[in-house]
Amino acid sequence: MFVCMCYGVTDKDIKNAVEQDGVGNIRELRQQLDLGNQCGKCIQMAQQIIDSTIIDETLFKEVC
Ligand code: FES
Repeated sequence: MFVCMCYGVTDKDIKNAVEQDGVGNIRELRQQLDLGNQCGKCIQMAQQIIDSTIIDETLFKEVC
């Protein structure tokens, strides 16, 4: 699913950035990926994906 239409960034790109590069907020994400610099409509969705990916990671760690 595309999150940022202007730059073609998908939810998978964002999840990978969180899981592999330790991205924890929009500012860090924008250092890794080109998104949000055009119309800015994707910022809220990107933030939600960062948050839910971090929650998923936390749950996974608690199970192990
Ligand atoms: S959709 Fe991301 S900047 Fe426009």
